[in-house]
Amino acid sequence: MNAKPRILIARAISPEVVERLSQHFEVQSNQDDVAWSQPELIAQLQGKDGVLTTGSQTINAELLAACPQLKIVANMAVGYNNFDVPAMTAAGVQGTNAPDVLTETTADFGFALLMATARRITESEHYLRAGKWNAWRYDLFAGTEVHGSTLGIIGMGRIGQGIARRAAYGFGMRVIYHNRSRLSPELEAECKAGYVGKQELLKTADHVMLVLPYTPENHHSIGAAEIALMKPTATLINIARGGIVDDGALAKALRERRIAAAGLDVFEGEPAVHPDLLTVDNVVLTPHIASATLGTRLAMADLAASNLLAFFEGRAVLTPVNQ
Ligand code: DGY
Repeated sequence: MNAKPRILIARAISPEVVERLSQHFEVQSNQDDVAWSQPELIAQLQGKDGVLTTGSQTINAELLAACPQLKIVANMAVGYNNFDVPAMTAAGVQGTNAPDVLTETTADFGFALLMATARRITESEHYLRAGKWNAWRYDLFAGTEVHGSTLGIIGMGRIGQGIARRAAYGFGMRVIYHNRSRLSPELEAECKAGYVGKQELLKTADHVMLVLPYTPENHHSIGAAEIALMKPTATLINIARGGIVDDGALAKALRERRIAAAGLDVFEGEPAVHPDLLTVDNVVLTPHIASATLGTRLAMADLAASNLLAFFEGRAVLTPVNQ
């Protein structure tokens, strides 16, 4: 009988999925709350045929050269900017991601962050907890209107469409969007969303929501110049990826009240956060939790596991990102 393939699980995941994988593979699982450095990851990958990653591990040419036995990397994330896809393809390594299963949960969170930002929920809670609340005042933490306002979505994939539906049907918002390619007329009608250029979106929207994948081309594509186009009353929400926004420029704009507020779930170089963001009041900061419900995180890990199983059983993987 052939030896079972050897799989590494790079970060703690739902125990049910570890159990499922253990029935088919020889599994080594990092169930501790430890993020390995790149050299540690490479050391752990020695002799492994596959790895389940969370999106935080960098899979590049250097790692692939150091891990010649590796055949598949299954990301339990829809975004896969942690993969150097051409290098993986050149090395004959299959990559997979985890789309769809997190769409609605992530759209829920995008909306929650929009609401918290526009209505100054965390800022006002900090004030209350600090014992500063001494009287009702007509303008105490007066925020920005959400219902009936204009939402501009940059990146109109499945998650962007989920946010558009929530905005249009739930809050009576006017939805405009910008995307690499325009949606079909049917999908635009269903999402009640109108296509506009990026500059027009930035100038017109009351709330700008970023839901696009990160690529080297869109690095800092929301910087000082783009923020300067936004209304002084506007908010900016990023649930996409750090690196799309120039966090230093954003912190400066927030401090100078060039825009009203921002809500950020993702950061360039996370888990580090630009120190200037930590010193401004009008920003809501969350630690990359848009897909974080236990049910959705289980479904994401389970899809990654299904990809590993399909690959080693010689079937087509379910959600490939290359080949
Ligand atoms: C994704 O799936 O890309 C998320 O950012 C991970 O939580």
